[in-house]
Amino acid sequence: LHAPLLAPSLLAGDHAALGESAEVVPAHGLHWLHVDIMDAHFVPNLTFGPEVVAALRRRPALKDTFFDTHLMLDEPHRYVEAFAQAGSDQITIHIEPDYDHAATLRQIRELGCKNGIVLNPDTPASAVEHLLDQVDLVLVMTVQPGFGGQSFRTAMMPKLEQLDTWRRERGLNFRLQVDGGVDLKTGPLCHAAGADTFVAGTAFFKAADRAAFAATVASW
Ligand code: DX5
Ligand code: ZN
Repeated sequence: LHAPLLAPSLLAGDHAALGESAEVVPAHGLHWLHVDIMDAHFVPNLTFGPEVVAALRRRPALKDTFFDTHLMLDEPHRYVEAFAQAGSDQITIHIEPDYDHAATLRQIRELGCKNGIVLNPDTPASAVEHLLDQVDLVLVMTVQPGFGGQSFRTAMMPKLEQLDTWRRERGLNFRLQVDGGVDLKTGPLCHAAGADTFVAGTAFFKAADRAAFAATVASW
């Protein structure tokens, strides 16, 4: 359905040199940059705001980079417009908080971005089943969101398989993304379970040979 795609997570970059860290993406011939937005409410950590995304967007070397913005916010509907205006190409929002998910997914598209719905490890696939025909991507978290460098949860593989099955049965073509502890050992498990889009923070930024890492993911 979709060729394997690597989305390096800026969270694992140098936060005092975010521009240079983000430019690692085009420097390796990659297209997606995963940007983690945290509000200290939905998750116990803080990261970047829309001004940071806008400043990255203005860098000439990132002109063609696809900004995959992962909103870990209690009230994502209040911020989608700001992150779209900042230059996001895609905005993904969690299913767990209480807000109008369908309306917000629609709003993201009306703002000219791709949309996506995200599930925490404890959230079953059934929680997003009714939204599958309205999304460009489903993100299955393979760690509890909030921090990079945590261990991958193999127990999420059946959830990926279920979403992949529904995708095929219903003739849908959303991307199936994984995020958290994804490396060259855990990524193939996700790929076998149906994932096609791989966020990697620590494993990519700390890789001795990032080019080889990117080439390996592309070969899955
Ligand atoms: C975690 C974030 C991830 C994070 C992944 O809350 O959503 O995108 O950057 O980091 P690694 O790949 O180090 O687990
Ligand atoms: Zn993320």
